[in-house]
Amino acid sequence: MSDLLKQTEEITKIILEAKKKAQIETKEDKSKDFVSNNTDIEWPINCVVGPGLEGAIACTSKIGYVNGAKGWLIYRGYDIFDLCAYSTFEEVSYLLIHGKLPTKDELDIFNKKLINYRDINYTIKLLMGLNVEEMNTMAVLRIGTNFIRHDSTFIDSKYYKPDFNSHISSDEDSIPMETKPMGEKEAIYEFKKADYQEKSKIMEKELVDPIGYKSSYRLLSGVASVAGAVARLRQGKLPIEPNPELSFAANLIYMTTGKIPTPVEERIMDVSLILHADHGMNASTFATMVVASTLSDMYFAVGSGIAALNGPLHGGANAEVLKMLKEIGDIDNVEQWYEKKQQNKEKVMGFGHRVYKAYDPRARVLGPLAEYLIQNSDNKESKKIFKIAQKLEEQVIAHLGKEKKIFPNVDFYSGIVYSCLNIPVELFTPFFAVSRVSGWTARVIEYVQRNRIFRPRALYIGEFDKEYVPIDKR
Ligand code: ACO
Repeated sequence: MSDLLKQTEEITKIILEAKKKAQIETKEDKSKDFVSNNTDIEWPINCVVGPGLEGAIACTSKIGYVNGAKGWLIYRGYDIFDLCAYSTFEEVSYLLIHGKLPTKDELDIFNKKLINYRDINYTIKLLMGLNVEEMNTMAVLRIGTNFIRHDSTFIDSKYYKPDFNSHISSDEDSIPMETKPMGEKEAIYEFKKADYQEKSKIMEKELVDPIGYKSSYRLLSGVASVAGAVARLRQGKLPIEPNPELSFAANLIYMTTGKIPTPVEERIMDVSLILHADHGMNASTFATMVVASTLSDMYFAVGSGIAALNGPLHGGANAEVLKMLKEIGDIDNVEQWYEKKQQNKEKVMGFGHRVYKAYDPRARVLGPLAEYLIQNSDNKESKKIFKIAQKLEEQVIAHLGKEKKIFPNVDFYSGIVYSCLNIPVELFTPFFAVSRVSGWTARVIEYVQRNRIFRPRALYIGEFDKEYVPIDKR
């Protein structure tokens, strides 16, 4: 058992308690598991498809399984509660990406690579040229993936060191010497075109393993470093260098807040990262896979995942939940606020799920962890917000639990957990993305081995045979 697990046994107890509760509450469910023992599936598969591709089967996968009726979440055969109780985010990422739990040596090598890839100085330098304080944090995160990509193909890197003999000097005094006196037809101060094109081919080649393990590791570490830098730049502070002595979770908190977390804070962040790492063919995973299926590369694919995750119906809900709880303002306002929502037929953020028709197992862990952090905090505002959340949960489940199978989802308590760890609200969804990079890239690596470009159809319900009317006659 690692030192961190030993120091945080109370967190393990909370997780195992949540597991027990889940087993008791879902043991009656007799619904069939939606799995196949046959690894060589015969296509096409018959399935009933609803709007938004509900029910559609797009591919097979060995990475993760969600049973919505039973409230199960499985990564590569391991129960999410066990992974939270006994594993770490690094180990879980290895499991998702490589398909098995690592040996000690394999984990050491993996950790070293991740630590190495945390240093993205050139990307951070480029980010500092943006007006990050005024930008959507997910937009910066997305741009960050392009900068990391650019970093990997950067003109000055391995294959293309500046050649001082063939380049025009940037010393201003020398420029007039390069310039013909007058009347020239071409610009004088230019790079040689043919030469540059040749070099750019080399640059692209340099994107090593563009849709494989190397790009996966680079993004896993790099996106976390970008998130930390975004947090700092938004506060008008300089980004912090990653600390190679710290775990992924501890370093993420450190780069974001500037403080090395306590073992409990580190463990809770680690558990949160594990819980957010993968979740079947959700919208952002699908977006990532669609882009990868065109044989674009991992950097572009992950950028699309970040874009899809940003929406309030998906990962963006975690920030919306906190705004909503603050808007409710007081535990005594909950009933009235919820009644109004119902009357207006509005959705409550952090509730409901396309797949879960039982309590989301991730919320089962994050709820009690939020409670634990609140109990050990003297922040009155957080205590108030947590009480509002608990009361709202009671109300929503009483009205919609039995009838519509609406329960809290992962985003309902994650924001409270993040707030207690001093993570600013604009970083909630980026933190979700940081963790999901492991699931996104694992699924891309798996899919491209038997790649087929995604290309569904739309049912055309428009008109035919219309006569074209010139613009002046319309
Ligand atoms: N509050 C109140 N009612 C809800 C909610 C909710 N949060 N979610 C669903 N319902 C109701 C709908 O009104 C609908 O009722 P009806 O049948 O009477 O019209 C029924 O449940 C089905 O809802 P849909 O929107 O059709 O469900 P869908 O599977 O398309 O959407 C979704 C799932 C997007 C997550 C939805 O539940 C929602 O919008 N929740 C709020 C946003 C949220 O928390 N998103 C985070 C999800 S977790 C994640 O992505 C990481």
